[in-house]
Amino acid sequence: METREDAAVPLSFELNGETVAVRAAPAARLLDVLRGPCGRTGTKEGCGEGECGACSVLVDGRVVNACLYAALDVEGCRVTTIEGLHDGAGGPSALQRAFVTLGGTQCGFCTPGMIVAAEALLAANPDPAADDIRGALRGNLCRCTGYVQIVEAVRSAAAARRAGADAARAAAGAPS
Ligand code: FES
Ligand code: FES
Repeated sequence: METREDAAVPLSFELNGETVAVRAAPAARLLDVLRGPCGRTGTKEGCGEGECGACSVLVDGRVVNACLYAALDVEGCRVTTIEGLHDGAGGPSALQRAFVTLGGTQCGFCTPGMIVAAEALLAANPDPAADDIRGALRGNLCRCTGYVQIVEAVRSAAAARRAGADAARAAAGAPS
């Protein structure tokens, strides 16, 4: 029998640039709504306890653990998952390319969360030092890579993004 706690209620938010309208139980986790009714399975569940970062997504630009985040708290918010972090034309972003080419991903389970957290870092700090990267990713655990390649991938992507921004400014005739 359905209880008051189970009864799903309407939930609407922006997901990767598109408005979505679903129904969610009051106690539903954001992770389950994203992977279930929203069909975005790129966000992974590792520990389910806020310890590993595999479920990292952005809510209004801030990194959160979707396994601990109440789904109903994103009503009206802007949510970004790994599926939303492409190059703008549906291809891999500079971060995604760097993770692949520099060995920042092996089994790949931690990678969506790593890239989401790295994206938030680069939005705030386009030229992070290695320590900045390690600090920003301290909530994201990887069992495979040993982190050196991940830090290098983020540094490489940051340089590529800065070069791209400089090129865009030059093309627009603006001073760099
Ligand atoms: S699955 Fe959310 S932090 Fe591990
Ligand atoms: S690449 Fe396997 S856990 Fe990070």
